Amino acid sequence: MNNFIFQNPTKLIFGEGQIARLSKELPKDKRILVTFGGGSVKHNGVYDQVVAALSGFDFLEFWGIEPNPKVETLRKAVEVCKRENIGFLLAVGGGSVLDGTKLIAAAAVIEEDAWDLVLHPELLRGNIPFASVMTLPATGSEMNRGCVISNLATGEKYAFYNTYPTFSILDPTTTFSLPTFQRACGLADTFVHVIEQYLTTTGISPLMDRWAEGIFQTIVEIAPKVLSEENDYNTMADFMLSATMGLNGFVGMGVPQDWSTHRIGHEITALCGTTHGQTLVIVLPGVMNELREQKASKIVQMGERVWGITDGTIDERIDRTIAATEEFFRSLGLATRLSELGIGEDVVEAIVARFRERGTLLGEQLNIDYKLVDAILRQRM
Ligand code: NZQ
Ligand code: ZN
Repeated sequence: MNNFIFQNPTKLIFGEGQIARLSKELPKDKRILVTFGGGSVKHNGVYDQVVAALSGFDFLEFWGIEPNPKVETLRKAVEVCKRENIGFLLAVGGGSVLDGTKLIAAAAVIEEDAWDLVLHPELLRGNIPFASVMTLPATGSEMNRGCVISNLATGEKYAFYNTYPTFSILDPTTTFSLPTFQRACGLADTFVHVIEQYLTTTGISPLMDRWAEGIFQTIVEIAPKVLSEENDYNTMADFMLSATMGLNGFVGMGVPQDWSTHRIGHEITALCGTTHGQTLVIVLPGVMNELREQKASKIVQMGERVWGITDGTIDERIDRTIAATEEFFRSLGLATRLSELGIGEDVVEAIVARFRERGTLLGEQLNIDYKLVDAILRQRM
């Protein structure tokens, strides 16, 4: 196991009715900017609960942080923070609202442009403290330092690492209004977050392996009920907590990580606007297949423990594990081929050119170069 330092300071406030706790958790002596997306919170009662809890607080609202948050929008919020002397930020919505708020929080305390911060993280000089009410289980953003920011003008999308939310409120009933497609993408995103931290090699940490497999098994078990929209409270609670546990550092302690599926997926979103979780399930089977020798022992372990594949040659077991994983994604109602979304060769070439020009190397062994990205994507046409 590799050396590591683990410290996750986010206070997790979980359960039905917990949005009311905002009145206890938010600072009374600071002006608060509450950030929102496009309005889902107005239809599902979340906005009303937040405003009720903020009674007596000094707060402003910022609306319009879009899915795959754009720096062009976030700059406007940075201006508001500077002009209005904002001392605390509260993100209310999905991962995009919180991700955008993480960048706002850091860009509001420096002179440089918010995009410069994304490109040059060494400009980070602290933050306006921030917290969240998370309404979409997927990103784990509620309990991690990451945010992923898009630039409309340049068509780029990059991860940026800031600090953790002070607290995050997760009320599973807020997920009851999620459309089926967002549920599917959230399940897929959670599954792939765990796989990025798992699918490297065996024999490093049985503990991390079992935790990761526990999340895979939970997601597979609850998926039909999550998608059915019957909104069983405990099912949606497990979905929410799985998403948080999938990317808050707990399953990644001391183990190598891959993240190539995400890096390639971000480029598909940057060029085509495709929803994040949807991009991942297209790319992942290609990564598994191209890296099948390097990752053989772990693919076989996953096949056995998650999909019950216990016989056949190593090659057969790998093939069946990849097929079972893709079949699971299809059972969520997601496309697993680029062509199904009308994405063609021109996009593949553009993505490969980007990796070539940047000289990026991906994967736990940093051996996925642009040629391998090309091979991965061509398999997924
Ligand atoms: O904007 P509103 O109107 O609120 O609607 C949103 C949005 O249209 C809607 N929604 C959210 N909660 C809802 C709801 N609709 C009904 N009921 C609810 N309870 O869902 C749509 C998608 O929301 P979005 O926030 O974009 O989804 P998600 O949470 O999946 O976030 C995706 C973004 O997170 C990044 C992705 O790249 C993408 O930009 N990621 C962030 C990570 C992180 N911070 O660690 C890691 C991930 O790998 C991921 O890359
Ligand atoms: Zn993700």
